[in-house]
Amino acid sequence: MTPISVTPSPATGDGASPQTTEQSIFVIFGATGDLAKRKILPALYELHRHGLTDKGCVILGVSRDAAMDDAGYRAVVRESVPTEGEAQAADVTAWSDASVHYQGIGNGEPADFVALRSRIEGLEHDHGIPGKRSFYLSLPPQAFPSTIAGLGAAGLNHSAGWTRLVVEKPFGRDLASAQELNRLVHQYFDESQVYRIDHYLGKETVQNLLVFRFANAMFESLWNRDHIESVELTVAEELGVEQRAGYYEQAGALRDMVQSHLTQLLALVAMEVPTAFEAGAIREEKVKALRSIAPMTTASSVFGQYTAGRIDGMPVPGYREESGVSPTSTTETFVALRMCLDNWRWQGVPFYLRTGKRMARRLTEIRVRFRQAPVWMFRSVSDASPQANTLVITLQPNEGFLLFFEVKAPGEPFRLQRLTLHFDYEEAFKTLPEAYQTLLLDILRGDQTLFVHADEVEASWRLYAPLLDQTVAPHPYPAGAWGPAETSSIVPDRDPREPTDAQRQKAGAAA
Ligand code: BG6
Repeated sequence: MTPISVTPSPATGDGASPQTTEQSIFVIFGATGDLAKRKILPALYELHRHGLTDKGCVILGVSRDAAMDDAGYRAVVRESVPTEGEAQAADVTAWSDASVHYQGIGNGEPADFVALRSRIEGLEHDHGIPGKRSFYLSLPPQAFPSTIAGLGAAGLNHSAGWTRLVVEKPFGRDLASAQELNRLVHQYFDESQVYRIDHYLGKETVQNLLVFRFANAMFESLWNRDHIESVELTVAEELGVEQRAGYYEQAGALRDMVQSHLTQLLALVAMEVPTAFEAGAIREEKVKALRSIAPMTTASSVFGQYTAGRIDGMPVPGYREESGVSPTSTTETFVALRMCLDNWRWQGVPFYLRTGKRMARRLTEIRVRFRQAPVWMFRSVSDASPQANTLVITLQPNEGFLLFFEVKAPGEPFRLQRLTLHFDYEEAFKTLPEAYQTLLLDILRGDQTLFVHADEVEASWRLYAPLLDQTVAPHPYPAGAWGPAETSSIVPDRDPREPTDAQRQKAGAAA
């Protein structure tokens, strides 16, 4: 297997050696929760399997379940990690027997955190670990403050080696709550210890945006208002709210997707060239890009909510009919936004953001439309209207990019045809690490580049403040559509002349 993450990591705030993972203890709060089982535990196993934690990584699962013990949690781990064949199942068993432990946290009283501290110290003693600790809060957001305060009060915010705090999204639900959470975090932890997760930053294509833009002078020299007409970011999901109504009813698409994932993509596309490939320099430029965006207004946004419809020909219920959703819910499941960056590079270039659940199909892409040729000299020989070049960076379902351009179709009559140059990650590299593997490895290495800084999270909430908690009812759209009809007043419709997916696949197969 190709070793994952070949990123040369920069020096870190807490003095760790960046290229390697050191022997450490990895504490997971919410150890029996869905995220731990689906993402964190399988990713930790993959890192072990690839020899990336070969110096030793002791895992301590923590949850409220008082009846659970080491053996019980190892069984959870074995069930959570997908395996192929008996040999791998045996490897997972050996790994969990050697590395995985469990500690109940009761109701999270001070005494429970003191007991946790003793358990950690005991494990560190037994495994000879010199006080190097990561605390991963894979918890519902309402449990973040008490857990952070509990860790701090028990003196678990620092150690003889290093201590890292990993916080899942959502980080706050508006600017005030994010600032309050940041204040609490900073009461006990220095920013250099904090890893705010946005799993989109762990996707290869998202990381590749940096390489694409800053290692290829060809693109970077065109990456500005002189050559680019518009930028369109789309994250469309086929899935509905699933079993997450409790969370989603409070969040909605703006908080769930726009404030986090889409804003991170936007910042990476729009930011200036960082002075170095280094966490501080990159995060500084991302914040500057976000701060240059004019605050959103309701006039430049459309909110939608899916009604009953069809996905892949199968009937699906509307959002208000989903289990756990109020029949009068006004939570948005779709958002489209038009924004402008007030800076020299992007002045006058619209950025369109669009995301929704139960849309026509799963699609995540960044579409950069270049300006048209200034003079259309083929008017006399071809009735095709001028078409600008478009670069589409695809994140899902295939990671890679497509460049649309015009060619002369062979033979007579003289005719222009739109074709694509394409690059597909999986085709080129065969294997792609899962986002969580990349992010966990970076936490263990102490590389904060792919994590969200306190300033970024606040800049992002500030941007969307005027749109949060709107009382206007979202526009309905049938499941399986590309959003409500009103969207076309904000975001351009998809270009009918661009090749369909089938044509793209054919182009890919022929290449
Ligand atoms: C999560 C959101 O952060 O991202 C979900 O909470 C969403 O609502 C998911 O479905 C999408 O992630 P991905 O990687 O499947 O695009």
